[in-house]
Amino acid sequence: MSSQKPGFIFGVNNIPFDREIYKKEVDSCKKCSLGYYRTNTVIGEGKMPSDLVFIGEGPGDQEDREGRPFVGRAGELLNHSLTQVGLARNEVWITNIVKCRAFEQVDYKKVNRPPRTEEIQACFGFLEKEIEAVSPKVIVALGSPSASSLLGKNFKTITQDRGKWFNFKNIKVIPVFHPAYVLRQKGRVYDKTFETFLSDLQEAKNSVNLKIDTWNLPLFKKV
Ligand code: SF4
Ligand code: URA
Repeated sequence: MSSQKPGFIFGVNNIPFDREIYKKEVDSCKKCSLGYYRTNTVIGEGKMPSDLVFIGEGPGDQEDREGRPFVGRAGELLNHSLTQVGLARNEVWITNIVKCRAFEQVDYKKVNRPPRTEEIQACFGFLEKEIEAVSPKVIVALGSPSASSLLGKNFKTITQDRGKWFNFKNIKVIPVFHPAYVLRQKGRVYDKTFETFLSDLQEAKNSVNLKIDTWNLPLFKKV
């Protein structure tokens, strides 16, 4: 049985997931230093359970202000791309490897930076909780920090490994470009990068019900 009342869902191992309780738990978290500088925590959102989970690197400025994942420019590109491959944002789960914004102060500006290993490790339990509750068939790792935090040393670089299949706790994982990376490209390089991004998303969608021979790959190793 699943989802008797809003926000209350049984995860894959019949572990109850209550969104409100989970949100409060993350809101009170100070397990790493990012917790001291955030405006809002940003937990995952979308459909639960769902076949597909999209995992980004961490909240940016807009996400930190709104407390929701992928609501800035990268989010716009992601939403648009999902539509292009016949998916809607509310039928997948969208989240990040850390729930608080990682940034550096440069002069008077806050500049996003990738989360550090110790921050990813501190936050990993929250991501695992979400994945368990969503129980996806495919995980799309958006960008390198996301892919390497799930796949450890098995993942080399995004150029080398995007569009390939990996395995995280017996869930198929496909690393793809980060939408912010796509947005940084110009002219014809942008067109080509965007095309690759779309075809990787299409592959992810098409592979939900496919048995892919990824199981010979070494399993997840913690970062
Ligand atoms: Fe806690 Fe994660 Fe925020 Fe660090 S990033 S304070 S571990 S919720
Ligand atoms: N980039 C990310 O990786 N995650 C977000 O939520 C927004 C931008």
